[in-house]
Amino acid sequence: DRFWLPGERPGRPVELDEERGVWNVYGHAETLQVLTDPATYTSDTGRLMPGVMDDSYREGNLVRMDGLPHRKLRRLVNHAFTPKIVADLEPRIRDLATELLDEVEGRDELELVADLASPLPVIVIAELLGVPSGDRHLFKQWVDKMINFDELPMNDDPEELKREVAAQLAQVQPMFDYLHEHAAERRRRPRQDLLSQLVEAEVDGERLSDNEVVNFVSLLLVAGHITTTMLLGNTVLCLDRDPEQAARVRADRTLTPTAIEESLRVSTPSAILARATETAVELGGQRVPADQMLMLWLSAANRDERVFADPDRFDAGRQPNPHLGFGRGAHFCLGAPLARLEGRIVLNLLLDRFPLLRTIEDRPPTFMPSPELTGVSTLPLRVVD
Ligand code: HEM
Repeated sequence: DRFWLPGERPGRPVELDEERGVWNVYGHAETLQVLTDPATYTSDTGRLMPGVMDDSYREGNLVRMDGLPHRKLRRLVNHAFTPKIVADLEPRIRDLATELLDEVEGRDELELVADLASPLPVIVIAELLGVPSGDRHLFKQWVDKMINFDELPMNDDPEELKREVAAQLAQVQPMFDYLHEHAAERRRRPRQDLLSQLVEAEVDGERLSDNEVVNFVSLLLVAGHITTTMLLGNTVLCLDRDPEQAARVRADRTLTPTAIEESLRVSTPSAILARATETAVELGGQRVPADQMLMLWLSAANRDERVFADPDRFDAGRQPNPHLGFGRGAHFCLGAPLARLEGRIVLNLLLDRFPLLRTIEDRPPTFMPSPELTGVSTLPLRVVD
């Protein structure tokens, strides 16, 4: 059951996968060590495959940047995601979720992902950016394409790899064109939206180029959509699998935030992060040379029994819960407050509106195809009175 367990529980906190030439990091302490030392463990993993991705797609991609350029861009975009701006979205997000649920009112079944968990985060991001939410089917198409990109082999011929990357990016060229058009339009006529803010923002007298804005926004779409969709679906599924915990949350709504954190821990949507070593290091008792790729299995670190008692148990009130589902350190998820808010609103709304929602025996949930993404891709539910 891939949803419930992150694969075999690994024997050692750090292991070399000789076939793929990458180091798997499973331990919580070891993952933290990597995430909090960006000078030694770079996020710019593209460095190991120089020239494979055209630089024009790399600039502005916050999650793959390091050091000063990362800090500058992060400071700039932080303005758009302050706790106050996110908290102010609460009534709007509740209205949107309510409208989506109104559309399934009276039915005795719903498909949580298509009916609510997928559209909600896209509409929220589209509204934040200021692009018409009527275009959301386009966003969904592009994101679906990006998450279905084939995994690229590490030790392949660089020229072939380069062609494959170019072919994949070409599939979402319409998205880049669309975002370029919108960014150029905001430069001419700024509005009250995130795109205008990004186009106009200045750090140390410098502004972002249209290309940086577009790459950052495409990152937001990918990073902020499917992960939030999975969080919402996974939380409902966790509660479905443990009726005792579900009853506990229903009876005590102060537990919704801790239930969301616990869902992120046991079914970590963004399950694997990549880093590369800048120098030779000692990690988890292993000597890892310079220029090696590390795969950080957040899903495994989140079940490390050295940190979490009874790690396979879903405990809706677990506290403290130092899970790594949003990463840690310099790259800590920019959208975490927004994802948490959406999670809390949706869970509370579902508990308010439905006496009970249960999975359907002959139509079980389906799961995302990639090991990097732990979560439901469809979740049919029956409304029980
Ligand atoms: C970074 C997970 C929702 C935007 C990250 C990272 C993780 C993560 C693990 C760290 C990446 C790394 O260190 O390499 C998640 C999960 C989400 C979620 C599980 C939902 C449950 C969102 C949302 C947004 C967002 C809603 C924006 C609207 C970002 C951005 C970064 C990031 C821009 C890069 C930050 C940086 O590099 O400084 N996310 N995320 N995420 N996330 Fe999220």
